Amino acid sequence: MPEHVFEETLKNGAPYLIRPIAPDDVNRLGRLYKSLSPQSIYFRFMAPLERLPRALVRDLCDVNPEREFALAAEVRQGRAREFIGAARWLRESHDPQAAQIMLVVADGWTNLGAGRTLYRRLIPIARERGIRTMRGLILDSNFKMISMLVNSEFTLDTDIQDGLVSFSFNIGD
Ligand SMILES: CC(C)(COP(=O)(O)OP(=O)(O)OC[C@H]1O[C@@H](n2cnc3c(N)ncnc32)[C@H](O)[C@@H]1OP(=O)(O)O)[C@@H](O)C(=O)NCCC(=O)NCCS
Repeated sequence: MPEHVFEETLKNGAPYLIRPIAPDDVNRLGRLYKSLSPQSIYFRFMAPLERLPRALVRDLCDVNPEREFALAAEVRQGRAREFIGAARWLRESHDPQAAQIMLVVADGWTNLGAGRTLYRRLIPIARERGIRTMRGLILDSNFKMISMLVNSEFTLDTDIQDGLVSFSFNIGD
């Protein structure tokens, strides 16, 4: 198996792959974002984007290994392969040992374990690359993400202000 490629199984028994996002995934990632409900878009991007600019999707596929890493969850649909989720961390410029983490799972594929698995697969890669602290910002109405974070192996630090939860947790020594 190539590096950072993982064969996984959804809670409904369906197989899927977790693998790094590459520049030629622009259409696939674009279709994933296009399929999202307004609430999922808002939870992921913290903005009510009606349409994600193609340049942004292209940037999200053009992963700079010095400062970020992105994984997708991919299923086979006939001959095609489609993304059902994507996750990334982005190193903070003012604190290179810290990174912001972001993830999304397609609405029709939630509650099947893909979110938790993407998250679980991203952390060791961050640790390998010298990240010690993961940080993120979510809406305080995002109960699912909050529950996923709270029920993880890491001890969370949180700060809640104006409807936003900023969180951080230590992933390594
Ligand atoms: C948050 C998100 C990534 C979770 O993805 P998912 O694939 O549904 O997550 P999972 O199936 O792995 O479930 C994660 C946990 O949430 C729990 N959960 C599910 N529904 C829940 C709910 N309504 N309230 C609280 N917890 C819930 C599950 O029990 C699971 O816990 P477990 O792993 O201990 O069983 C997905 O809902 C999503 O994309 N949301 C929109 C974007 C977003 O909010 N991104 C986060 C900020 S960047």
